[in-house]
Amino acid sequence: MTRISVTVDGSTYSDEVEPRMLLVHYLREVVGKVGTVIGCDTSNCGACTVHLDGVSVKSCNLLAVQADGHEVSTIEGLARDGVLHPMQEAFRACHALQCGYCTPGMIMQSLDVVRENPTPSEEEIRKGLEGNLCRCTGYHNIVRAVEQGAAAMAGSRTADVMAGE
Ligand code: FES
Ligand code: FES
Repeated sequence: MTRISVTVDGSTYSDEVEPRMLLVHYLREVVGKVGTVIGCDTSNCGACTVHLDGVSVKSCNLLAVQADGHEVSTIEGLARDGVLHPMQEAFRACHALQCGYCTPGMIMQSLDVVRENPTPSEEEIRKGLEGNLCRCTGYHNIVRAVEQGAAAMAGSRTADVMAGE
């Protein structure tokens, strides 16, 4: 067993884990972040996507020990005081989910797309999400949601600047 210390959604956890434990299993089974889900065993669905130090990763593709000393953000850390993050709200408003199983990973990956490019084109969104699979929606509404979420995030950044934050 190896002791690791990982900050997840702003709280720091210190746990003994087996060196072979995957990060997604650590998040779900040890930390209790079951909003991060497992959709495949081949690292190609993206349902398990989280951010490691602000950059999206497939948490089934990393060991928990590789997150030692790092910050992980999951879908569960996005809402603030019961208010959905603009990207979550955009997915809701655009009906960008049906069963919702891919949605945590889609939203975390979408945020990474917008982090790299705050005003992505439709083509750039589709390219950015190519590692995330949805078995329900056909992607059209997901792309619309990312466009709307990106616009809302840009708007709130502008509002923050105007408010002097
Ligand atoms: S569960 Fe990680 S990519 Fe499918
Ligand atoms: S909404 Fe069902 S897999 Fe995407």
